[in-house]
Order: sequence, then structure tokens, then C-alpha cells
Amino acid sequence: MRFRGIVKIELSRSLGQDDLKVLEEAIGEVSQSLVKGFRDPEDGGRILNWRSEDKFLVIEIESRRLRIDEAAMRVKNSLEESLGSRRRIGIRDIELEKALVEIDGEIRISTKLPFVKSIDASSERTTIHLDTLGEKDLKKPILLRLLRLLSEKELKARWGGKTEHWQLIKESRIKFATPLTKEDPNKVLEEAGLVKRFSIGQWLYTPLATYLMNMVREVFIKEVVVPLGFTEAIFPKIYPLEVGLKTGHLRGTINSMVFASLPKTYNIEEFEELTDYMYVVNEAPPEEVAKYLRYPDYFLCYAQCEPFYWFFGGELVDDSSIPVKWFDRSGPSFRWESGGIYGLERVIEFHRVEVVWLGKPEQVVQIRNELLKAYEKFMDEVLDLEWREAWVTPWYYEQSGAVEKVEEFDIDRPGTIDFELWLPYRGSREDRKSWLEVGNISIHGTKFTEPFRIRHNKGVTLWTGCSGFGSQRWLVAFLAQRGFDPEKWPPVLREYLSRNPPPEPVAMVTYPKTRTGRDELDRLIKFLRK
Ligand code: SER
Ligand code: ZN
Repeated sequence: MRFRGIVKIELSRSLGQDDLKVLEEAIGEVSQSLVKGFRDPEDGGRILNWRSEDKFLVIEIESRRLRIDEAAMRVKNSLEESLGSRRRIGIRDIELEKALVEIDGEIRISTKLPFVKSIDASSERTTIHLDTLGEKDLKKPILLRLLRLLSEKELKARWGGKTEHWQLIKESRIKFATPLTKEDPNKVLEEAGLVKRFSIGQWLYTPLATYLMNMVREVFIKEVVVPLGFTEAIFPKIYPLEVGLKTGHLRGTINSMVFASLPKTYNIEEFEELTDYMYVVNEAPPEEVAKYLRYPDYFLCYAQCEPFYWFFGGELVDDSSIPVKWFDRSGPSFRWESGGIYGLERVIEFHRVEVVWLGKPEQVVQIRNELLKAYEKFMDEVLDLEWREAWVTPWYYEQSGAVEKVEEFDIDRPGTIDFELWLPYRGSREDRKSWLEVGNISIHGTKFTEPFRIRHNKGVTLWTGCSGFGSQRWLVAFLAQRGFDPEKWPPVLREYLSRNPPPEPVAMVTYPKTRTGRDELDRLIKFLRK
């Protein structure tokens, strides 16, 4: 990225012959100020040429790492000091003219954005010409965000899809030299009628399916979440757009979010034309319904931890109130997965236990470490499965659309660890596709405490962390490795089964649909009632 622009300074008076020496010194000082703080002066800014004209000083500058807005302000501040102290010349005004940002490669950017005047793009280079900027503009966060956006786009263009990062941290020993089963539990659950497809990526979980899902979830809460001191809260499940703006989701994942609209009015009479039409024609055309709705003001629960940051947003916390350790399991999350939907593994509506915490950096890291240990024990001993964990591109970066090159990882810095379980029905352990991500655990640093302004009363930096346990996915992966026969399940689950008798299955004349399905159901019932 390179910047260029002309800084036009209006002085409090015209310069005379006797000011020239001081002026030349002042320009020298401007040059120095432009490289201040850069180890390699090439990274800073430099003066390409300058001239003085009556009351004006016109200085053309270019820079690499030093943003052009900051470069212009450095020019002003330096001149203010040198000319003010030595010649009592003040600075009336500053303008940045013909500013441009040059980026290697081709990036796409809209001319509708504020301050963007025009764009020249070729496959090698993109040049963004900016409007003339006054001092007020130079200090605006909008300009800062525009320049940040450009630098992210440049990074993205340079790294392409390569910013995705996956690095194995730990893996369990091989536990099933010969897999206990190679059955696809998604198929069994559907065929035996434990779940029925409601709509794309959405299922109805009959009491027996709900029982199985709750079983794994309850054991997780009992073995991992509660012993570590997390307490339950209930978070809302539809969020105002503003929340998604702050978390970054609206920027990064708008393509997979589900939105909600309120009706335009509460007065049912105003719907009469539509309600009469639906009565007579017995159809509900979405395009007609849309006419009676407001624009979408909400999106449906996406990451599930958003309301936690909102709750502490704008508040001052003190030492006695941190760390805060909560979890929410109160409702579904929604992700539109387009073509990727499969069984219960990849759905649009899913259930999750979301564990969240807030505290000082060392507290947040310690809680993550405790949680990590408890997860490992849960996978390795409690459920006794084949698992692995990896350091990945943090979900909150992926989900905010921001990019950064992932360097060597440091586990105590912000980042995400994914948990994956082996799905024998998919194939061998060596194939990446045979592993299912069932959960993750993250340290966010200040990614959310900053935009939501969560502050400590003594100014200590606050961090957050969160961890998601995808209920459907844990169940599927558990069944994929251990099958449906409780004889082959670990003791905790067998105990759960004996303490909590499973509910009756659903069987009707026409359900489950197929002969195989009915046989499957008989088999499952026999297993569970043993
Ligand atoms: N909120 C985190 C995520 O969306 C953990 O569930 O991945
Ligand atoms: Zn979260």
C-alpha cells in the first residue's frame, strides 16, 4: 500500500524573504517527523516537493506505512511548532488534496463510500483517489475506517483464501482399531423416525431424539460447565442489527445470517386485502406478505454470545465482579448453510451450549485453560472418544470479515481452538473430511470489550472468552463412534440411561416411513430398554 497527497497549509501571514531560512529548517523537521517511529525510514513518509505561495505552503508527500491522514497531521503539527515558536506564524487551515491510495493487485471498492472520488483498477494495481479532505475530515473515524478497510482488502487480495489456518495441537490415541460401527447416525435417526425433516436444515426432534441429545448435553454441563463455576443465564435469540454491527457479524457473515422483520402495523384491519386473499386462494405469496412487513431490523441468534457483550456494554466493572462466568443453553442458533446442509450435522437451526466469560487477561486465559482441560477429560475419559484439537483462524475474525496473517500461534494469546471428533462412517482418520468440528473455545482479547465499551473501574484491560458446544454434532459424533447399543457406551451414559428411562418412540401406521426404518426403530428400542 502506498499513499500520496498534497498537503496545503494556510498560514496566518504571507512569508517574506527573511522567513526562508526558518522555513527550510521547518521543512527539514517535517521530513523527520514523517519517519518518526519507523525502524525503517522507507516505511514512513517523505516529502516529494514543496513550494510556498503567499500565505500557502504546498507540500507533496508520499508514504508507505504511515497513513496519509496521519502524515498530513504530522506535517501540520510539525510546522505549527517550528514556525510558531520561531516566526510566530500560525496555521489557519490545512487541506489534503489529490490524496490517493495505491494497492498492489486488483481490489473491489465502491465509489459510493464516503471520501472515495474515483478508482483506477488494473490487475496489477488499484488506485483510489480521495476527495479533498479538511482538518475535520482528517480526524474523522469514518476516514480511519475507510483506510483500514482498504488495508484489509489489500491483505485479503494478497493472501486470498490462505488466511485459513489449522494446526494440530493434540490428538487422542486410537481407541477403535476396528471401529465399533460404520453406520451413519444421521440416516438411522431419520429412518427410524426419531427426527423428521421440518424444512431445509431444520428438524423436529421427537421425545426420544430429544432425550438422546439432552443426555449428552446434560452430562457435558454436569461434568464440565458446572464444576468450573459457570452459572446459567437466558440470552435473547433475536438481535437488533446494531448488535451485529458491533460484533462484526454483519460485515463478515451476512451471507449466512437469517433476518427477521416486524409487521408494519399492529392493526389487523390494515392486512385485510392480504388476509382475504389467503382465505380465498389458500396461498401465502411471500412477495405479498413482504409488503406488510418492515425492513429486517433483527437477525436471529448467530454466535449466541452476542447478548453477553451487550449486557456488559457501557458498564464499569470492578475487581469483585470479575471474572463473570455464565452459560446459555436456552434456544436455537441459525445459520443459513446454502448447499452445505447435511443430516443433523450441518443444519440451519441448531442447538448449542454457549459458555462465556469476562475478566482480566490472565483470568480469561486461566479460565480457558481450565475449560480446555475439562473438555479433554470429557472427550477422552467421560465419553471415551477419538478426538483432536487444533489451533484455527479465530472464528471472530472469520466472522467479522477481517483478515490478518496468522503467524506462529501462542496459545495464551487471543485465538480459537476447535474440537473435532472422528466420524468412522465417513472414512479413514487420515482424511480431513472424516472429522467433525463439534465445538470450539476462544479467547477474544478486546475484540468485543472495545466496541461494546466494557470497562474496568481502574482502567485495567478486560478480555472475553467463549466456547460453543453444538448439541446435535456431539450426539451425531458420539453415535458415529459408539453406535446405538448402550452396551458399548461409557459408564456415565449407561448410568444416565438407568436413572432416566427413555420416552416412548413414535410409531404409527405410516411412520416410520419404511420397513427398514421400522426395523431400525425396533432395534433401537430393544437396545435402550435392555
Ligand atoms: N460463539 C462461538 C461461535 O459462534 C462459539 O459458539 O463459534
Ligand atoms: Zn461465542
